Amino acid sequence: MKRNRSDLITLGIETSCDDTALAILRGKGVVLSSLISSQIKSHSMYGGVVPELASRMHQEAIIPLLEKVLRDSGITEPSKEIDLIAVTAGPGLMGSLLVGVMTAKALSQAWKIPIIGVNHLEGHIFANVAANKDLSPPFISAIVSGGHTEIVDVKKLGEYELLGSTRDDAAGEAYDKIAKMLGLGYPGGPVIDKLASKGDPVAFDLPKPLSSSRKVEFSFSGLKTATANMIRNSEKNNISFRKEDLCASFQKAVIESLVCKIKLAMNNTGSKKLTLSGGVAANSGLRGRLKEMAFEERWELFLPPIEMCTDNAVMIASAGYDSYLRGNISDLSLSPDPSWEIW
Ligand code: KG4
Ligand code: ZN
Repeated sequence: MKRNRSDLITLGIETSCDDTALAILRGKGVVLSSLISSQIKSHSMYGGVVPELASRMHQEAIIPLLEKVLRDSGITEPSKEIDLIAVTAGPGLMGSLLVGVMTAKALSQAWKIPIIGVNHLEGHIFANVAANKDLSPPFISAIVSGGHTEIVDVKKLGEYELLGSTRDDAAGEAYDKIAKMLGLGYPGGPVIDKLASKGDPVAFDLPKPLSSSRKVEFSFSGLKTATANMIRNSEKNNISFRKEDLCASFQKAVIESLVCKIKLAMNNTGSKKLTLSGGVAANSGLRGRLKEMAFEERWELFLPPIEMCTDNAVMIASAGYDSYLRGNISDLSLSPDPSWEIW
């Protein structure tokens, strides 16, 4: 170990889906550099991520991005200046994960520094840990992204209990599918969020998924189908509607469903500390509604900055750093696990 525990320098690598992301972090949350090479434009024309294309693009992007992240953080001798490599090893797309893991292994061999495989969802939890010095466990973490909708009891960093998840689609996935139907491109969340702010949230009567169930669980496929049917019927019968109104009504149903189950999880556990993360945590309506609710319920609410909601390597570096301090370390047998679960 070259320096104090709190000053260790970690290179974070994230390639689990369609963003190639690299970051250099000091300690748990001082960002020296963070870069993302987005593939959105290439996948947009297909209305979703094409796995084969994603892995090829990671492979093209990762080395130039590495050179840039090192340059931006002023690192000239990585083998001497970087202490640890943290890389997402799952869950995610196999071909995408392989690019990050193989790059990390090669660098760890060349620079003779340790490597640690990080769970992507633990990474999302660490988006808040990295961004908020005052956050310490226990707390409840809602992870809402394109691939996941989960509520987790973070008992300690590294000790997690799954309280509930989605029965079918993730919330972000529903956003992406509705956006595709409306011809709004990919990813759907940001554009629906923007249109929703100009629409009437009660213009369409959409189902509030599982609102009467007393379980911490989500379902977005019924809402997605009801919204899709509304679009199809209107088109078939030549009935015009404002996309803004449909987006606002859809967003309201998603937010109500998320907030209702988050409240149930908070009440069931008696916790007063909540974090939100994942791509959908960037949603302005959800952030606003949770802030109101936190005020009413006297919860302490932690939200990551917008750039740390969607996939990034700062959260992976932070999770890897903390895991390393807890005594975990991987070796060259590290392999991606597309369905890695940590609860
Ligand atoms: O965390 P993330 O980058 O990737 C996964 O791990 O899935 O999340 C991407 C998801 C996409 O489904 C995208 O539509 C959604 O997050 N998203 C949003 C917003 N920004 C991104 N959903 C709702 N509102 C937003 N502002
Ligand atoms: Zn993610």
